[in-house]
Amino acid sequence: MMMEPLSSVPSDDFDDNHPEWAEKARVLFAQECTFLRGVVDESGLVSFGLPEIAFAGRSNVGKSSFINALTNRKSLARTSNTPGRTKEINFFSLAEKIVLVDLPGYGYAKASHKAVDSWNRLIFDYLKGRPSLRRVFLLIDSRHGVKPNDEEVMTLLDKSAVNYQIILTKIDKIKTHELEQTIASIQKIAHKHPACHPQVIATSSRDSHGLENARLEVFKIALKAS
Ligand code: GTP
Ligand code: MG
Repeated sequence: MMMEPLSSVPSDDFDDNHPEWAEKARVLFAQECTFLRGVVDESGLVSFGLPEIAFAGRSNVGKSSFINALTNRKSLARTSNTPGRTKEINFFSLAEKIVLVDLPGYGYAKASHKAVDSWNRLIFDYLKGRPSLRRVFLLIDSRHGVKPNDEEVMTLLDKSAVNYQIILTKIDKIKTHELEQTIASIQKIAHKHPACHPQVIATSSRDSHGLENARLEVFKIALKAS
């Protein structure tokens, strides 16, 4: 299916959502999503000439599952019960318009120091020096909240002036009142970080909750870049 050019929708104000954008976002994600490349060291970080959105977060937070849920694919990105599954930076092209980037998780205690050092270096190299990077979705497990290594990444992104937004994952695992408290406390943290988007998106890849909101954000980023 061919997609309408993204630029055919009004582009005056990206903060106000236009009613037709939700459908356009759905159509964007119904298009082909293909694996481009897995990168294990800095030398592999070539440019794809498209805007990028990266999915970052602690190990096992649900990054790969979230990419699969967003793109309606079961196994585009490899997921696992074992933390530390994603060991490369994996790049996927969505509709040849935007690149989705599945990062290895940080903070995986059981891996060897050497492995953690090399993954962290790769993630940090990528996050701070990528001109095509339009936004980082920083995934936070709704049961655990923001941990010190998440704050470290937030500070790095502030310093590198990389726009980022918090996505709460696995909300199927917590009660509604807990979710409300978690969102309130995370919003307070978000306000302290200059490069952090004020809106927190609550999601469950298992229940497909909140995915439309995240798709809309991706659509708006693709639209801005077109
Ligand atoms: P690394 O690549 O190791 O950093 O992990 P990751 O962040 O990519 O996590 P992954 O998507 O592999 O998921 C880790 C575990 O969490 C798997 O067992 C998933 O099934 C589970 N999981 C992911 N999303 C959800 C969710 O929305 N709800 C529930 N209940 N479990 C989830
Ligand atoms: Mg993963």
